[in-house]
Amino acid sequence: MHKNQLLSRIQSQDAVVAVVGLGYVGLPLAMEFADAGFRVVGYDVSERVTALLNAGQSHIQDISAAMVAKHVASGRFVATTDAARMKDADAISIAVPTPLGKTRDPDMTYVQAATQAVVAQAHPGLLIVLESTTYPGTTREVLQPAIEAAGFSVGTDVFLAFSPERVDPGNPVYHTKNTPKVVGGVTPACTEVATALYGAVIDTVVPVSSTETAELVKLLENTFRSVNIGLVNEIAIVCDKLGVNVWEVIDAAATKPFGYMKFTPGPGIGGHCIPLDPHYLAWKMRTLNYKTRFIDLASEINSGMPDYVVEKVSRALNDSRKAVRGSTVLILGVAYKRDIDDMRESPALDIMRLLEQRGATVTFHDPHVRRFHENGHEYHSIDLTAAALADADAVVIVTDHTAYEWQFIVDNAGLVIDTRNATGRTKAAKARIVSLADTMVQPE
Ligand SMILES: NC(=O)c1ccc[n+]([C@@H]2O[C@H](COP(=O)([O-])OP(=O)(O)OC[C@H]3O[C@@H](n4cnc5c(N)ncnc54)[C@H](O)[C@@H]3O)[C@@H](O)[C@H]2O)c1
Repeated sequence: MHKNQLLSRIQSQDAVVAVVGLGYVGLPLAMEFADAGFRVVGYDVSERVTALLNAGQSHIQDISAAMVAKHVASGRFVATTDAARMKDADAISIAVPTPLGKTRDPDMTYVQAATQAVVAQAHPGLLIVLESTTYPGTTREVLQPAIEAAGFSVGTDVFLAFSPERVDPGNPVYHTKNTPKVVGGVTPACTEVATALYGAVIDTVVPVSSTETAELVKLLENTFRSVNIGLVNEIAIVCDKLGVNVWEVIDAAATKPFGYMKFTPGPGIGGHCIPLDPHYLAWKMRTLNYKTRFIDLASEINSGMPDYVVEKVSRALNDSRKAVRGSTVLILGVAYKRDIDDMRESPALDIMRLLEQRGATVTFHDPHVRRFHENGHEYHSIDLTAAALADADAVVIVTDHTAYEWQFIVDNAGLVIDTRNATGRTKAAKARIVSLADTMVQPE
């Protein structure tokens, strides 16, 4: 009975949808539901975030203020810090952070707090979907008992599913609506209701047989990236030792039309997903007395890349008869990847810290990040002038934002350490350019 009522409310778009956590994942999802005609309640613990959204602004680069303002004005979307506003919701999607603790164990405190807030507003005929990336078993082991302790029966009066988010911030082609969405319910009825909800807003929904399957799908996807990035990073180190240009090797390998997928090396991995998510699986498997070797090895190689870059900088300065101590190093790009403003887990932070530890004066420029705090310091993006480039003893390209004019950079800097092959297409330059993996550095 509850299932059919809920399905018909979803079909007629009378269902009210709540989204818990209005960040990189939750806000685009909330906007997608509002675009499709649902009334949406966005619940977040941050007063700053909810006030900003209700004022018609956006704190997420991929979501325009105009879109938020449109849905706020029409009454389709409201942001709130009051969990009680979710009591009329027919469906609630949870997209709160899932960080790692200091010992790389899952920090489930956000998911637990969100679950408590949701369960306190639960009623028969409610669908709850967890979207936060997490270890296999979370939905059944953390959410289901909390729902049942409140007197509900999962699959009969309250429906529970896991559906991983695949958002790729800054991606101009794929966004929430046109990225296929995997859904796995605790029971077949749960899967059916969750598939209907997401089917109303997302082009392709992929139902799977259980919540554990859906949870593991996400971890496989991100582990796949981590492992392959680890592999090309190791190939970069191999090329460096062989004196071979890694970019040429990779581009040539990528001409194979089958059985090869191009990944590129870089200064390390960042963001909320790739550096963290595989550890959720590693942790879960440790509890089952199994060691996930690929995850550990990729993590070791990837997390060693900032050290490797700093060593490159040090060697390049040495070739110019300079020490790191006392040199000025200008970092270009501190966001963790191209054309976004997200600095979480960015390798630029490690590179800056390591250079400062060796005595360098470190400055930065990023067209997407004007300032940030780290280790009690406030860093401000400098103006990228010819003089700033010329004054730096070394310029390190960490993030290859498309806004950069590479020819201008190599025409004005003296020494460039290019970790992204961003300068690959520049013409003869004033700067000595040192690649991430190419030992052909000519001393002065
Ligand atoms: N950022 C990505 O590219 C991405 C991609 C796929 C999956 N994910 C996963 O999605 C989840 C959310 O990540 P995000 O990047 O959107 O995080 P985020 O930090 O951008 O946003 C999380 C929001 O949740 C709010 N919040 C925290 N605790 C809360 C609570 N108890 N109740 C209500 N709101 C609460 C925070 O104030 C914040 O606004 C994580 O599990 C992440 O791994 C992220």
